[in-house]
Amino acid sequence: MKVAVLGAAGGIGQALSLLLKNSLPAGSELSLYDVAPVVPGVAVDLSHIPTAVAVKGFGKDDLDAALSGCDVVLIPAGMPRKPGMDRADLFNVNASIIQTLAEGIVKNCPKAMVGVITNPVNGTVPIVAEVFKKAGTYDPARVFGVTTLDVIRAETFVAELKGLDVSQVKVPVIGGHSGTTILPLLSQVEGATFSDEEIAALTTRIQNAGTEVVEAKAGGGSATLSMGERQHVSAYH
Ligand SMILES: NC(=O)c1ccc[n+]([C@@H]2O[C@H](COP(=O)([O-])OP(=O)(O)OC[C@H]3O[C@@H](n4cnc5c(N)ncnc54)[C@H](O)[C@@H]3O)[C@@H](O)[C@H]2O)c1
Repeated sequence: MKVAVLGAAGGIGQALSLLLKNSLPAGSELSLYDVAPVVPGVAVDLSHIPTAVAVKGFGKDDLDAALSGCDVVLIPAGMPRKPGMDRADLFNVNASIIQTLAEGIVKNCPKAMVGVITNPVNGTVPIVAEVFKKAGTYDPARVFGVTTLDVIRAETFVAELKGLDVSQVKVPVIGGHSGTTILPLLSQVEGATFSDEEIAALTTRIQNAGTEVVEAKAGGGSATLSMGERQHVSAYH
């Protein structure tokens, strides 16, 4: 299996690449692409981990080579939020990045599964879909917006509130990945019941959990470690 991480030198990209290096099946190839000049170093660093996954770094002019023959492409490239910003505020800067990367995917690996992490996910996924449509190669079953961070947050918060074993808690979260479009289905949680007050408080906390991280990092970025983890789990297990 060949997997590309586009934006591999960033906060999410590095955490995700580390997890992939440690967990992809033996014989896999991991392609790390970023416009930041540090990306070859990230690849060399990871290549010293003794797993049977070949890692290669690709700089800004090597998108085609990075994507050639990929089965899975994960995209955490682009700017994260700072305190006071809404995810939609990122659209102007991240839209063109996503368009360029999607054009590279269409050209080099049109059958790949594409997981879009870059915010605003509610807006970047349609961009990827439109690029595929323009090329006549759109398959809705192959383009994903990565919103599962909302699921793991919901599971953590429900387990904390109810004193449950977090590894056993499952909370479906549907909709999008911004504010009120994040819809946790608390009525579907097995083994727990919630008062109206608990539902209101939990729903608000789950919807605003990203902002909790952005504010706690005080201008230093948004969720990266919890994000890398869920990407890994959802893509490969
Ligand atoms: N889907 C989610 O649940 C979720 C959660 C947290 C963050 N995010 C989003 O993920 C994105 C990345 O966050 P981060 O914290 O890793 O940011 P970061 O700034 O740490 O990393 C972004 C990386 O993208 C690279 N980059 C910029 N333009 C590029 C291009 N044209 N091609 C390739 N790489 C490019 C940068 O060089 C940098 O290394 C942000 O948009 C953020 O809002 C999504």
